Amino acid sequence: MTLHDRLNIRTITETDLLWLDTASQAVGGPMVVSLGTPHRLSDYPTFIAERGSTPVGFATFRIAGLEAELLALAATEQWQGTGSTLLAAVETEVVQAGCRQLMLCTTNDNTDALRFYQRRGYHFKALNAGAFAEVRRIKGITGEVVGQHQIVIRDELVLAKHFTV
Ligand SMILES: CC(C)(COP(=O)(O)OP(=O)(O)OC[C@H]1O[C@@H](n2cnc3c(N)ncnc32)[C@H](O)[C@@H]1OP(=O)(O)O)[C@@H](O)C(=O)NCCC(=O)NCCS
Repeated sequence: MTLHDRLNIRTITETDLLWLDTASQAVGGPMVVSLGTPHRLSDYPTFIAERGSTPVGFATFRIAGLEAELLALAATEQWQGTGSTLLAAVETEVVQAGCRQLMLCTTNDNTDALRFYQRRGYHFKALNAGAFAEVRRIKGITGEVVGQHQIVIRDELVLAKHFTV
């Protein structure tokens, strides 16, 4: 695989599940908790980005009526356009399904993601201060978790993008 190989987006298959398990460590593991609800990523639609035949990122989302939620987005090769391409694919998919909004949750430490999403039209909807305590309880994590940039993870931030039809 080289960066000259074209980035291709496809839907997940059974054979990707082992890879997804490992790749999901970038978002805290195969089970994500958003707004106090646990979601197992393998239960939801997922797009895989691949370069050549090598998976280099994934995006998992769920559709609930007029709203959709991006449950996870990760690129194993950062800053090469993978996250942007995956996010655009999810947006196209949910708009085609009739959704008017795509929301997502991230954490206070993830300043790279906060920059990334705001640059792509996502606005802050809510700050759930201290919400990570409940995530730790659900996941059985004892003690503080130090996230990106050596920041202790405490809070959940909700962002959303609206689509006009
Ligand atoms: C956040 C994430 C999904 C972004 O995906 P990506 O493939 O790295 O992003 P892209 O390459 O498409 O775009 C990155 C942007 O950062 C810029 N960038 C380049 N190098 C950078 C660097 N060293 N640091 C920060 N930004 C950088 C790019 O130029 C681009 O800028 P733009 O927003 O002005 O267009 C990815 O970094 C990731 O997997 N992070 C870990 C998992 C995670 O936190 N997921 C989100 C949880 S909700």
